[in-house]
Amino acid sequence: MIDYNQIAQKYGTPLYLYDFDHFTAQYEKLKDAFRARKSILAYAVKASSNLSIIKHFASLGAGADCVSIGEVRRALLAGVPKYKIIFSGVGKRDDEIAEAICSDILYINVESSAELDRIELIAKRVDRSVRISIRVNPNIDPKTHPYISTGLHSNKFGVDLDSAKRMYIQANSSQHLEPVGIHFHIGSQLTELEPIRDSAIIVADLVRSLRSAIGLELKFFDVGGGLGVQYSDEKIIDPVEYAQAILSTLSGLDLTIICEPGRFLSANAGYFLTRVLYEKSNSDKRFIIVDGAMNDLLRPSLYGAYHSITHFKEADEKVGVADVVGPVCESGDFLAKDIELPYFQHNDLILINSAGAYGFGMSSNYNTRNRCAEVAISHGRDRLIRRRESFDDQIALEREFIS
Ligand code: LLP
Repeated sequence: MIDYNQIAQKYGTPLYLYDFDHFTAQYEKLKDAFRARKSILAYAVKASSNLSIIKHFASLGAGADCVSIGEVRRALLAGVPKYKIIFSGVGKRDDEIAEAICSDILYINVESSAELDRIELIAKRVDRSVRISIRVNPNIDPKTHPYISTGLHSNKFGVDLDSAKRMYIQANSSQHLEPVGIHFHIGSQLTELEPIRDSAIIVADLVRSLRSAIGLELKFFDVGGGLGVQYSDEKIIDPVEYAQAILSTLSGLDLTIICEPGRFLSANAGYFLTRVLYEKSNSDKRFIIVDGAMNDLLRPSLYGAYHSITHFKEADEKVGVADVVGPVCESGDFLAKDIELPYFQHNDLILINSAGAYGFGMSSNYNTRNRCAEVAISHGRDRLIRRRESFDDQIALEREFIS
């Protein structure tokens, strides 16, 4: 049982807390679900990119799915073996491509024909051959929030089937490109199995047709991430059923599964701890004003995302409907809306649950607020894994304007 009061006193608020034992349990669950095949779970670093978190997953055997060269460097620094690192993303700069090639990672996920040309040119320039995978956009509606849907042709991600075929033909005959994988990722917080199965069928068929048309033997079937988690009472996909649905599409194919989970591994391991500053009400609304804000946890403001709340008041205390809001100067700055909560005093603690994915990583210095500290809990012990920023940290990179 975590003593939130003691943690808040020791490290201050607002604060991110991560239960490392939960990370482990989620990793094992998903890894086990794929046990019928060779697989690599490449942790989607963007979900929560603290080095200690990546290192923890690496110690369990995970790889890393990265979307910038910064993330690739993080993964390498945290000890992820280079042969388990993937570099994805819809736009990569030349310097990022060159560094990824020279780092000899598992493969680069290619998201357009123009990018394939660029990668080939850069590989030629540095006189290397580079392993690649192509991200296919299967044009399947993943039935999730539009901002985190990526598998439709109206989304910027990946290429259609015909383009993918042409790109594989090009790569297969290039001296500098080695096509080893195929990739799809249709969206995040997926709660329905059907779109995943349908996408896997389409992409597995493409693998078969490439084999018969140009004799291409791919090695990796990269199913992206996207497995949803429970934020409230939504029905979620069972990892075993998820793995079975994918594996059932691969008969006759000798492929290693790459899966890139972010949220599934980290969301419910994380908590955002904040203190009540004060309450205020008007004729319409009751507001609980806390020291955490949208700059710390953006998901409610950006997606209208729901995060459940734990408080530490007695169960029989009087409750009323309220919004939990932060100090940032935006009406969209809220952490919860219209929920039943007891009446709080100054300094009472509020815990925002399921904040371990896309929490700290999407935080900013908006309103010149220092980004939070991050604390790991493991086997009942707490450990600081990122100190709170200071005002000096924030201004360190700014230079005086000299006219
Ligand atoms: N692989 C690729 C290529 C991705 O784009 C993503 C996430 C993942 C894997 C990991 O997806 P996950 O397993 O976490 O669903 N900020 C949003 C989520 C954005 C997801 C972006 N891509 C949120 O807070 O809901």
